Amino acid sequence: MALIKNQHHVAIAIDGPAASGKSTIARNLARHLGLVMVNSGAMYRAVTWKILSLGIDPFDQDAVEQALENMAIGCGVDGCFSTIAIDGVVLHDELRSLQVNQAVSIVSAIPLVRERLVALQRDYLQRTSVVMEGRDIGSVVFPDTPYKIYVDASAEVRAARRSAEGVTDSVAARDHADSARATAPLVVAKGAVVLDNSDHTVASAVEASLDILRSQGLQW
Ligand code: DC
Repeated sequence: MALIKNQHHVAIAIDGPAASGKSTIARNLARHLGLVMVNSGAMYRAVTWKILSLGIDPFDQDAVEQALENMAIGCGVDGCFSTIAIDGVVLHDELRSLQVNQAVSIVSAIPLVRERLVALQRDYLQRTSVVMEGRDIGSVVFPDTPYKIYVDASAEVRAARRSAEGVTDSVAARDHADSARATAPLVVAKGAVVLDNSDHTVASAVEASLDILRSQGLQW
């Protein structure tokens, strides 16, 4: 396992649209570099799961904000990966349900939800070096990190990836909502290098990502 040299807690930002392959790249980079992979989407999914479990309409912003006040959001680490718990319940597969897929872009557009989760995402860097993947990691969460990759792939490839996973997910609708929202929309962050992941294998995508990080000055 490689170690990052001469640096105190490093943040690597991996952003991009749904099903672009950024989680796979982030996971492999974390393993290769010996960092913790933080899945920020899981945090938005966890809050959404809780809102739905409480029977709250995700469009009812006041009700979501009120529920958020009483929600204990536990962000942990297990080995190389982030974990997420709400009110003491550690969440896994339920985060990928159709209901959560359909509501997560609505809940994650609420500024107070973002404020709370961005603070928790930044907390990780106090504890450890991270490869964090999401939509606004390079633009909002860690705008000052020099290590930023925007992973993209064609709409066809992304839709095919999700259906191969056997998941019902309206990727195009989610991307539209995530890119059009007022607060922290999906953008190519300043300084990010775009990696087109339409035709890469996992191994070649990870190699290409390491090349980008090297060109951005990361040493390991
Ligand atoms: O990465 P994912 O597809 O699991 O993310 C689920 C949703 O969470 C995504 O549609 C938008 C939201 N999200 C966000 O708004 N900001 C992030 N940094 C990560 C995810």
